[in-house]
Amino acid sequence: MRRERRRRLALLGLLGLTLLLLSRTRLGRIVPLRMFIHRTGLQAENSQFLLEDKPITILGGSMHYFRVPVAHWRDRMRKMKACGLNTLTTYVPWNLHEPRRGKFDFSGILDLGVFLEVAAEVGLWVILRPGPYICSEWDLGGLPSWLLRDKNMQLRTTYRGFTEATEAYFDELIPKVIWHQYSKGGPIIAVQVENEYGSYAKDANYMEFIKTALVSRGIEELLLTSDNKDGLSAGTIEGVLATINFQKIEPVLFSYLDSIQSNKPVLVMEYWTGWFDHWGGDHHVFDVDQMISTVSDVLIKGASINLYMFHGGTNFGFMSGALHFHEYRSDVTSYDYDAPLTEAGDYTSKYYKLRDLLSKYHVDPLPPVPPLIPKATYGAVELKRCLSLWDVLASTGEPIRSEEPINMENLPVNDGNGQSYGYTLYEAVIYGGGKFHTRGNVRDRAQVFVSTQSVGSVDYKNQELDIPEVPGYRKLQILVENCGRVNYGNKLDTQRKGLVGDVFLRDVPLRNFKIYSLDMNQTFINGLNSQHWSDLSEGKWGPTFYQGALRVNSQPQDTFLRMKGWKKGVVFLNGKNLGRYWDIGPQETLYVPGSWLWPGVNEITIFEEYKAGESLYTVDSSFLGRTQYVD
Ligand code: GLA
Repeated sequence: MRRERRRRLALLGLLGLTLLLLSRTRLGRIVPLRMFIHRTGLQAENSQFLLEDKPITILGGSMHYFRVPVAHWRDRMRKMKACGLNTLTTYVPWNLHEPRRGKFDFSGILDLGVFLEVAAEVGLWVILRPGPYICSEWDLGGLPSWLLRDKNMQLRTTYRGFTEATEAYFDELIPKVIWHQYSKGGPIIAVQVENEYGSYAKDANYMEFIKTALVSRGIEELLLTSDNKDGLSAGTIEGVLATINFQKIEPVLFSYLDSIQSNKPVLVMEYWTGWFDHWGGDHHVFDVDQMISTVSDVLIKGASINLYMFHGGTNFGFMSGALHFHEYRSDVTSYDYDAPLTEAGDYTSKYYKLRDLLSKYHVDPLPPVPPLIPKATYGAVELKRCLSLWDVLASTGEPIRSEEPINMENLPVNDGNGQSYGYTLYEAVIYGGGKFHTRGNVRDRAQVFVSTQSVGSVDYKNQELDIPEVPGYRKLQILVENCGRVNYGNKLDTQRKGLVGDVFLRDVPLRNFKIYSLDMNQTFINGLNSQHWSDLSEGKWGPTFYQGALRVNSQPQDTFLRMKGWKKGVVFLNGKNLGRYWDIGPQETLYVPGSWLWPGVNEITIFEEYKAGESLYTVDSSFLGRTQYVD
């Protein structure tokens, strides 16, 4: 008896201590409140979804926290609610949460816990899509590039190197979300297992592995898979609700789903409201009336729907992905998607027409539409000084020396994690000139220099250049840009960047490289301030950093940078990467969130690869380029 009492006291003590420790964290404030709650979550036992035993229709919209400034999360969610939606769906990007193996980040724009709390406060249920692969036009479909250091890596399979990394990540991620599950009083009503695995389907055991990895860590809510028509049959797993993705409804779709899984509620997990854009292409738009009529058809059939995207936001930084089927095409910075809310969160005709339609599915009137968030223009950025990349190199520390080229991911930098994003400069000494050939080993494109003078650019298509014949030894410099790793298709395992093999001069492979890792992260950009910058009248050619002041005299508001006249590069605001620009379009403006500006002088740093524009202006609306209807 006494031993039993002691055991109980010890347990209580342990519980008390755990609560005390937890109470110092945000999660800790939720856990005590939710410990004693138990609700019946979403059920899909027959053709109707039930939540707490009441029939519901999921009216969902996708919005990804990592694509929207934190200060706007609530605004966008209120706009969802006012449009008649009851559910928000979000992916979780592993590459941002674990930028280096074992080093996790859930702060700021990555604070998933806060995002889920805001959703709950606004009154939205959540469908969580933790991947680990998320596709989503995101670099390597959200997988961290350090996985590719293993030359035998097989992503999205039960290859040990992949499963161990996934388990370690889920050990960190899942405990952060379990208290936000519906059964525990939180907003998460369902969790997706992987993403469109049926279109990949390389390993018959993989989906079970992911399912177990979720459930064994405390995921209790309804599990679902999400596939397009072609992947549907290969993507489903036992005990998990299959859902479907499409843009245009085909009469056979629902009966096909029924043949795979009968007497279950139908959920269109991704109804594509628009589409994404590639550099060099057009800005895609999808007809509003076609969208409304399809959403209406789906709802008339008694099905549930999630609009992908409801609000796309921005691929800040170097995060946009790419496709590579017959040719490699990288995605632009904006993820506007022609969605019901624009990249900057403004209303569109899609929004209003959708609201009209969805209001019919509510008994009570919808909440009023929240006011527009004002946009501002702050005139011209006062460009002040420049700094050639060649001058920066002297102070980036000793370059890596290697006889043969080393790809980005395998460079001995970042505590053994390699380089993930940005540029890498490879320098070798050559004698004379002749044909330079990449034999397809430049990923994804490079500008080539002889003693800092540009001799041209190479990419997947243009693989050779003439190096002018001059007697003597000179430096050949290859500035390679990683334009974004493929996020969909069978090429995931081969997404290593930089120089991925030998490059040749007169058919002889170049040797003895000096390699500079230029990931252009915030520390790197802030570090440039201690460099010796020159007056703007000097050097306006070649890869150069430019700096200027963006003056904000009042409370900062959202604005856009019009990149007219600039050729190709990246813009940083107070050290934060706003994304890439490129004069091949279609996108011409970069979104600048007001919450990233401060009153007074804001520092704009531009890395321009070719030639600076004459000026740089802020404007109060975006221009995403010539449009093309999605067919
Ligand atoms: C698929 C994926 C999404 C996204 C869309 C296209 O459905 O699941 O992540 O890539 O395609 O936007």
